Amino acid sequence: ERIRIIGAPLDYGADRRGVDMGPSAIRYAGLAEGLATGDVECLDHGDLSVPRAEERDPDAEQPRAGSAKFLKEVRDVCERLSRSVAEACAAGEFPLVLGGDHSIAIGSIQGSSRDADVGVLWFDAHGDFNTPETSPSGNVHGMPMAAALGHGSFVDTPWANAPGVDPENVALVGLRSLDEEERLAIRDSPVTAYTMSDIDERGITAVTEDALAVAGDDTDGIHASLDLDWLDPKEAPGVGTPVRGGVTYREAHAALEMVAREGSLRSLEVVEVNPILDTENETASLAVELAASALGKRIL
Ligand code: ARG
Ligand code: MN
Ligand code: MN
Ligand code: MN
Repeated sequence: ERIRIIGAPLDYGADRRGVDMGPSAIRYAGLAEGLATGDVECLDHGDLSVPRAEERDPDAEQPRAGSAKFLKEVRDVCERLSRSVAEACAAGEFPLVLGGDHSIAIGSIQGSSRDADVGVLWFDAHGDFNTPETSPSGNVHGMPMAAALGHGSFVDTPWANAPGVDPENVALVGLRSLDEEERLAIRDSPVTAYTMSDIDERGITAVTEDALAVAGDDTDGIHASLDLDWLDPKEAPGVGTPVRGGVTYREAHAALEMVAREGSLRSLEVVEVNPILDTENETASLAVELAASALGKRIL
């Protein structure tokens, strides 16, 4: 199997600087060696270029809260990311996208589903189901799932939509922090949401099995989006929006090993790693280990 690594060092979708260093931190934590198991070959395509905040035109329109901040910058990166992911799929390679904040999922999901019906597994403390109309923060990293499905004003942004994704095939796993309107939007939508309470009651294995069935039902493959804040902040301190009460180290591996065994994963992204907030770079190491599990690495 050939894996195409694509870095997307974007931080315009989040409030805190530092998540743009995610791709470097993940490579530094030993990504290539971490994935080199059996017959896996890694092709590193480097990082997409993203203008630094300091390089932006000071006269450019300032972001407004209550809408979507820096949507133009996010769009520019997501369009290129979508193309790169689609190219990898067409070349028979497996796209592994390194974020960056979670707004890049808009590009990865669209790219992965250009020529296929794709289910989505969303491992996250958050639903990322806001629209510019409902978001209390205006941060696009709280919106990518809604954007891909064309909710709210994203109905008019073809660059952000993924027509190859049927909401019936979207499973959100590990939710524990939702904004009020976002919560209602998830309840009204055909997506399936598994909260931390579901994991408490049923265990990670049963929940992941169900989520895989949702994403895999009558689809050509699955895109997995792994926000590191899915894990408990004790395991993954280097994230911009930590929420306590997340999954443990073993639960995370168990879920991703199940994803690998199921066999229909076609693309993966790891996002929201912020090494500035994590002096030991533990969160990036965790991202490497979990990507390896998702790609089939076994203990024995
Ligand atoms: N719900 C909050 C918002 O919309 C937080 C989103 C956090 N998203 C993330 N990908 N870390 O602003
Ligand atoms: Mn999150
Ligand atoms: Mn379907
Ligand atoms: Mn997220």
